[in-house]
Amino acid sequence: MTRSDDDAWDVQTGVGSTAVIVAALRAAETNSANPLVRDEVAELLISAPELEGTRASIAAWAASSEHQADSDYRRLVNYHAVRTHYFDRFCAESSAAGVQQVVILAAGLDSRAYRLAWPAGTAVYEIDMPGVLEYKSATLACHGAAPTAVRRAVGVDLRKDWPGALQGNGFDSAKPTAWLIEGLLPFLSARAQHDMFARLDGLSAPASRLAAEDFVGAVGFQQAVEQQRAMDAGDDRWGDDGGLDPGDVWHDDANSNCADWFRSHSWRTTCLDSREEAERLGRPARSVLRGQAPMFANFIAAIKPGAGGCESGEW
Ligand SMILES: C[S@@+](CC[C@H](N)C(=O)[O-])C[C@H]1O[C@@H](n2cnc3c(N)ncnc32)[C@H](O)[C@@H]1O
Repeated sequence: MTRSDDDAWDVQTGVGSTAVIVAALRAAETNSANPLVRDEVAELLISAPELEGTRASIAAWAASSEHQADSDYRRLVNYHAVRTHYFDRFCAESSAAGVQQVVILAAGLDSRAYRLAWPAGTAVYEIDMPGVLEYKSATLACHGAAPTAVRRAVGVDLRKDWPGALQGNGFDSAKPTAWLIEGLLPFLSARAQHDMFARLDGLSAPASRLAAEDFVGAVGFQQAVEQQRAMDAGDDRWGDDGGLDPGDVWHDDANSNCADWFRSHSWRTTCLDSREEAERLGRPARSVLRGQAPMFANFIAAIKPGAGGCESGEW
C-alpha cells in the first residue's frame, strides 16, 4: 500500500488491519498460560465474519512458528503484552492523580474504555477513522459489552481537524487530560506527527500527561524500518499467503522524535527502554532476530508543568 496524505481505510483494509493484528496479539496473550495482561474483549473483536481474511493470515503466521521457542510471532505477543501493561499502568496512575479526561489517539480496537476500572465520572475519548470505531462500537454492542467509563467515539482522521471533532464531542481543554499514543507514530509522516503534537499541546491544560510509544527515539528511523522489514521477511512472516505486511503501511517519512518534541515544548519527559520494562516484567527480549536486535521501542512519559495538584507522581 502506498501511503498518501489523505488515504483512508476501515478495519478490513490498509492501516486499519493493523488494529486487528494488535488485538489478535492481545487475545493470544490473554489465552496464554500465564498472561501478563488480560483483554477479554480482544477475542470478540477479532471474531466477526468480516475479519475472516485477516484472522486467517494471523492464524497461519502463528501456526508456522508454533514449534519455534522464540519466533517473531512469540516476540510480538510478548512485546505487545509489555506495551499494554505499560499503558494500562499509565491509565491507572493518571486516574489515581485525579485526571478524569482520557484521550486515546488512534484507539483502533483498544478496549480500555470497556475493561479498565475507571473512577466514576471519567470520560474516555477514542479517536480513529470512523469505520474502525463504528466496527468496534457495533461489535461490542452486539456482544452486550458495556463501557466502564463515559466512552465517546470520535471518528476522525488525525491529519484533519481532530481538535474540533473532539471538542464537538464534549472534550474540555480546561481540564487536565491523559493522552495515549500507542501503536500510532509510524503511520504518520513527521509533519503530521508534529502537527498532532502541537494540537495536543494546545488542548492540554497544566498537569496533563501523556504516554507514547516511539520507535525512532529508540533505534533511529532507518533501523526501526529495518526492524519491521526483518520481521516481514522472516520464515514465519506475514504475507506469505498474499496477506498482510504491517510494515507496508508505515509512512516513509515517520522520522520524528516524540520525546525531543515534548521536551523542547517544556513537558517534563522521561523515556523507558521497552527491553528494560520487558526484563522487569519477566518477558526479556533477549534473542536476536536474524542478526538484528529484537524489536524494541521507547515508552515516553510526559507531563505538562503548571499549577494544580495532579502534576505530582511519576508521569
Ligand atoms: C497498530 S493500530 C493500534 C491501535 C491501538 N492504539 C492499539 O494499540 O490497539 C494503528 C491504528 O492507528 C490508526 N490510525 C493510523 N493513522 C491514523 C489517522 N491518520 N487518523 C486516525 N487513526 C489513524 C489506525 O486506524 C489503527 O487503528
